[in-house]
Order: sequence, then C-alpha cells, then structure tokens
Amino acid sequence: MRILVHSKFFTKIKISKDENEKLEGYWLTPSSRLLIKDEPINVAPFALAMLDPILTYPWHHLSEWFQNDDRTPFVTTHGRTFWEQAGEDLRLNRFFNESMTSDTWLVASVILKDCRHVFEGLESMVDVGGGIGTMAKAIADSFPGLKCSVLELPHVIAGLEGTQNLTFIAGDMFDSIPPADAIFTKWVLDGLPDEECIKLLKKCKEALIPIKDKGGKLIIADMVLDNEIKEHGAFETQLFLDMVVMTLVLGRQRTEEEWAKLFYEAGFTSYKIHPVLGLRSLIEVFP
Ligand SMILES: C[S@@+](CC[C@H](N)C(=O)[O-])C[C@H]1O[C@@H](n2cnc3c(N)ncnc32)[C@H](O)[C@@H]1O
Repeated sequence: MRILVHSKFFTKIKISKDENEKLEGYWLTPSSRLLIKDEPINVAPFALAMLDPILTYPWHHLSEWFQNDDRTPFVTTHGRTFWEQAGEDLRLNRFFNESMTSDTWLVASVILKDCRHVFEGLESMVDVGGGIGTMAKAIADSFPGLKCSVLELPHVIAGLEGTQNLTFIAGDMFDSIPPADAIFTKWVLDGLPDEECIKLLKKCKEALIPIKDKGGKLIIADMVLDNEIKEHGAFETQLFLDMVVMTLVLGRQRTEEEWAKLFYEAGFTSYKIHPVLGLRSLIEVFP
C-alpha cells in the first residue's frame, strides 16, 4: 500500500472518530476512481491493454532493435507490425479497440464540454483511424445535424452498423480520405514517424471541403509535449506515451514547434491549440 499511496492511487485516512484511537484506512483518489468498473468513465481497459504481455514484451527487445533494421521493437518481437498483428489476432484486436474506447470516452466527455465550439457549424466530418467509432458517435449524438464517418481498417469495423448520421468506411487512410468539412483524428498522427505524418496531413488537407471561403479544418486530438506541466507528473505520462508509441508503432509525441513544422510542411497555414485534461490537446489546423 505504501507505493500505491506514494503514487497517489490511494490516500491514507483516519477511520476512527475517537481522537485517541489511531485506526487508519485507505481511500480512493481521482486516479484510482478511473479504474473502477462501475464508474461512468473507466479507463481500466486502457491500463490493462498497456500491461498485456503482447504489448510489454517489445520493451525487452529495445536494445536488439537499436542494432537491427526492423521498423519497431514490436516487429523484432512478433515478426510483423502492430496493425498487421491486430488484423490477425482477434484477442489483440478486441482488447486494443476496447482500450481505445475507454480512453476516448474520457477525452470525448471533456472535449464536448469544453471545446464544443470547435465542432459548431460543421456539416460533415470524417474521423480518420477512428477505431470502433466511439468519438464519432459521441460527436454525432451531440450534433445531430453533423454527418460523421469513421475511416478504419476493415478488421476494426467489421460487423459495426452506423446510425442516421454515422457511417463506417473500410479503407486505408494513406490511399484516400472521403471529402468533408472537417477531418478529425485522435491518436493516429502520434503513431507515425514525421515523413508518414506529413503524407497523411497532406491527404487530410486534400479531403477538406472549403466552407464559406474558408478551407475547412483538421481537428487533432493528441498530446503536445509541454515542459510547463513537469511539476504535475503529467509530463512524465507524456514521456511514457512517447516511449509506448516508439516501441509499438514507430510514432512519437511532439512539442508545439515539432507539430507546427509538420503542419506547415504539409501546406497548412495556421493552427490553434486547446489544452484539455492537463496532458492532452485539441488542435485545430487550417489550410
Ligand atoms: C491508436 S488507435 C486510435 C483509435 C481511435 N482514434 C481512438 O483514439 O480511440 C489508431 C487507429 O488507427 C487505425 N489505423 C492504423 N493504420 C490505418 C490505416 N492505414 N488506415 C486506416 N486506419 C488505420 C488503427 O486500426 C487504430 O484503430
């Protein structure tokens, strides 16, 4: 319990009302509440996924990977890329999608409360690499006049049915992205090295339909590495996620300067960062 109290998953409390009695107990904290099954927002599936052996074994192969030409430590360990493996391994596909969904519930609840204005006035939106559609569904339910689509790899969306304003499109985001007023993407660009990121950003820009003399917009839900949040412990989480995406998919977390460089190289002209949840951000990027 000492380490759990130290890492703020439990707090120590005095149980007895009697001043002379020293009965102490433990109480949940905001962090551990996020891991309780019956709470409305529960990110336990995300924590469990990150600790699954299929995702942790590659950490043991980092030194081997430094000395070979494999794309990632994941490839060195399992012989194929993360997305290839997820396409073949039903268990990985299922628990990874569930883990993304649990994180997206948390992020969506904050974005739709604090950043609603970002989606106002849009008529169509494509969520690129949108998983099983959790974010797109939350946005579509919140804005019934907005037509949302999820572009995803076929194995992720197999068997899923849309609603009146939500459709699923099976495809490869590097081949083509359907046109829309806005392209949304969460936790996709951070999973790509710079050259592939620029390629995808260019594809997103091509897909944007000009809205009333403006050129539509790209909306990115990702992290912006920020030294200023160092003291909150959130910076350490960002650095761990930096390692996670490097180990699994050859991605990286980026500072504002690094994001801006990619946006301008892909032909976008301006951007606006809205910090959410301390360590995440919503970034509007304009052509
Ligand atoms: C880290 S997950 C994020 C999922 C979702 N955006 C979320 O945050 O809940 C990245 C997603 O990108 C999808 N993806 C990877 N490569 C893709 C490609 N070439 N075309 C379309 N989707 C792809 C994966 O299947 C996966 O669902």
